[in-house]
Amino acid sequence: MADLSTLFTGIRFENPFLLASAPPTESESNITRAYDVGWGGVVTKTIGLHPVVNVRGPKTKFLRADNTGSRLSMAKRPDSTVVASWNWELISDKPLDWWVPRLEAIKKAYPTKVLVASIMAGSGTDKELANWQVLVEGVQAAGADAIELNFSCPHMDRVDMGSNVGRDPVLCSVSTQAVKEVARVPVWVKLTPATANIVEEAEATFRGGADAISSSNTFPALPPLDPTTLDFEINVDGFVSSGGLGGPAIFPQSLAKMADMTQAFPGREFSGIGGISSFDQALAYFLLGCGTVQVATAAMLDHAIGPNVVRGLIDGMTSFLDQNADRGWTSLEDFRGLRRGSIVPHSEIGRPDSADYHGGYEDAEGYAVAVETR
Ligand SMILES: Cc1cc2nc3c(=O)[nH]c(=O)nc-3n(C[C@H](O)[C@H](O)[C@H](O)COP(=O)(O)O)c2cc1C
Repeated sequence: MADLSTLFTGIRFENPFLLASAPPTESESNITRAYDVGWGGVVTKTIGLHPVVNVRGPKTKFLRADNTGSRLSMAKRPDSTVVASWNWELISDKPLDWWVPRLEAIKKAYPTKVLVASIMAGSGTDKELANWQVLVEGVQAAGADAIELNFSCPHMDRVDMGSNVGRDPVLCSVSTQAVKEVARVPVWVKLTPATANIVEEAEATFRGGADAISSSNTFPALPPLDPTTLDFEINVDGFVSSGGLGGPAIFPQSLAKMADMTQAFPGREFSGIGGISSFDQALAYFLLGCGTVQVATAAMLDHAIGPNVVRGLIDGMTSFLDQNADRGWTSLEDFRGLRRGSIVPHSEIGRPDSADYHGGYEDAEGYAVAVETR
C-alpha cells in the first residue's frame, strides 16, 4: 500500500509537499486554505522584527517565452509560456505581534498539519542575535512545529541579513547557534544558492546545529529591458535593483546546488526547492536525497495557493509508488537518495576511447613506467 507520509527532522508529515515561504503563505486564510487542499505543511512568509516597506508598484512578475520565437518578456501575451517568476518583495510586512495569534489559531484548527515559521533578523551584533532569539521564542510558543531561518533573501541592503548571511560561513554558524540556544523545535536553514561553493555554508550551518537545510531561494536576477523604451520591464522612476528569479528556469541550477550538498552530507536532512510544479521535479529532489520539497511560483500561478499543483503532486507520487510496487517500494524512504551517486567528475563519464583522456592533463598521473636498463 502506497504511504505518502514521511518523517522529516523528527516531524511526521502526511505528505512531503510544502508551500514555500512566499505570498501563498502570507496570511491565515491562505495557510488554512492550503491545508484544506492537501499540502502536508507550509512555511510561513518570513517574519522579522524590523519595519518593512515594499517598493511602489508590482512586487512580482512572471517572465514568459514565446512558444514560436525567441522573445523573453514579462508582457502578458498569447502563445507564450511562463519560464520564471521575478520578485523584489521583502519579507512579511506584518510584525511578530500580528503573526503570533494567527499561528496559534492555525495550529489549533489544524493540529496534524505541519506549520513551519520562517524568520529573519540581522547577524552582525549581539543585539541582532538576540532578535533571532525573540523571534524563535515568539513563534515556538505560538505552536510552530519547526523554524526555518532565512539566510537567503537576495534583495537585502543590510550586509548582515538575508543572502548576505548565507554568503558568509561565520555568520551562518553564529546565527544558527544563537537560534539553537533557545529553540525547542527543529531548526531548518534556508541557504542562498548565490555562493561559489554552497557546501562551505552548509558545513558551517550544520556546525552551528541546524537540523536541516532548505534550498534554493530565488537566484539574483534583473528583469528584461524593453527594446523600445529602453527601460527595465519592472522599474520605479526608471530604476531597478537586483531581485530574485524562481520557477521552471531555476530548476536545473537548484538541483545542482542541492546535489553538491546531499553528496557532501549524505546523512543529513534536506528540503528541496526550486522550479517544482509537478511530481517529476519533486522526484528529482527526492532521488538526490531530499526528504521534503517546497513550492512557491507554481502555487502562486494556481489560485494563489496551488490546489491543482498539490493534487498533481499527491496523485503523481501515488501512481509512482503503484508503478514501482513490484520493487517493494511503499514510501519515499524506498527511493530517497537513489541517484545521489550518479553525479561524478567529468573524467569519469564514459567516452568512445577513455585511454586517451586524462582529465585535461597531458598524461595519466602516477608512478613513471619502469625503464629497461639492459
Ligand atoms: C514573490 C515571492 C516572495 C518570496 N518571499 C520569500 C520569503 O519571504 N522568504 C523566503 O524564505 N523565501 C521567499 N521566496 C522564495 C521562495 O520561497 C522559493 O524559495 C523560490 O521562489 C524558489 O521556489 P519556486 O521555484 O517554487 O518559486 C519568495 C519567492 C517569491 C516568488
